[in-house]
Amino acid sequence: MAENDKTHVAMTAGGAYSLATLGAKDVINGAWPIVLDAIERIPDRPGSAFTFSDMGTADAGTSLEMIGDAIAAIRQRFPERDVQIVYTDQPRNDYNVIFQMLHGLTGQASYLDRFENIQVMASATSFYNRILPANTLDLGFSATAMHWLSRKPCDIPDHVHAVGATGTSLKEFQLQAAKDWEIILLHRAVELAPGGRLVLVNFGVDDEGRYLGNTGGINMFDTFDAIWRGFVKDNMISEAEYAAMTLPQYYKSVDEFCAPLEDPTSTVKQAGLSVEHCESRVVRCPFAAEFQSHGDAARFASEYIPTLRSWSEATFSAGLHKSRLDVERDEIIDNFYDTYESMVCAAPEGHGMDYVHVYLTIAKES
Ligand SMILES: C[S@@+](CC[C@H](N)C(=O)[O-])C[C@H]1O[C@@H](n2cnc3c(N)ncnc32)[C@H](O)[C@@H]1O
Repeated sequence: MAENDKTHVAMTAGGAYSLATLGAKDVINGAWPIVLDAIERIPDRPGSAFTFSDMGTADAGTSLEMIGDAIAAIRQRFPERDVQIVYTDQPRNDYNVIFQMLHGLTGQASYLDRFENIQVMASATSFYNRILPANTLDLGFSATAMHWLSRKPCDIPDHVHAVGATGTSLKEFQLQAAKDWEIILLHRAVELAPGGRLVLVNFGVDDEGRYLGNTGGINMFDTFDAIWRGFVKDNMISEAEYAAMTLPQYYKSVDEFCAPLEDPTSTVKQAGLSVEHCESRVVRCPFAAEFQSHGDAARFASEYIPTLRSWSEATFSAGLHKSRLDVERDEIIDNFYDTYESMVCAAPEGHGMDYVHVYLTIAKES
């Protein structure tokens, strides 16, 4: 794989991810009625463990409460069956913190204190590969993860994100995203037991054209882009570094999510998957919402920027030329987020990262 194609995806480690991303937890908790509905529809498989996977879990903190509620519902529905929770993410993820959190070493309440005999395990296999044995998955869950592509199809010459791409680069991202979505679904089709369900909560573009950080106020990705372009203009980074900062992400529309699940000739449909529920939702940026009541711009800026940094820093840092010393790299990256923080502090109105997600329940035929 060429250096340019690699995706540099890493959330901040040591449990900092879930602390910085309170909004992601709101998104997951909001999915609870959909998860419960899926649990109620999944057929019994007496004698086998009920397997629940949380794909792209990061430090597992944001899904902890929802999975506790899911276990209660699964236990009530299938009291005789073992319950197995499989946390999955990429090889570079911090898995220690998942187990520390679950086993009470971080001071957070864990569902393992509430229930006996829950088998918890983790896999560092990407969701672009097969994670579980065939026909063993009852309920696959994933939140805010599958917008990360398996590879960056190209550098976008004039923006840092596909939401600002046009022409050939937009086409390349659309093609890559469609291919990746098909791969994700085909692997899950094999893993799912007959009648099993997927509840996938992914960043997307809604029917009004809204997406993460673009819901009517100041566009977050345009702000990222403007700051980096300013750094190019001031000779702090090169044009090539700016181009290499393209985030390997794509936000699908509702139609793009549903296309392979609805087309009777698609490989996904033929593998037995279909859409059972689909809706898009906007979840308000918690930091911007709090700012409306406390009114302290400096506090808002200092609380808000870490959430952006938690998922964008790895890609931006990897875009800087490899000849740069670590100290120089850190300085540029700090400067970037400090610049964004100063902008928010000076003129806070309109800033915020509202979440726009497409919530899907997908069923495998029985
Ligand atoms: C924004 S975090 C979401 C974490 C959590 N699910 C939540 O909603 O708060 C995205 C996670 O997806 C993971 N991820 C990205 N690409 C992945 C892949 N190909 N396979 C598994 N996990 C992946 C990242 O490592 C990261 O932990």
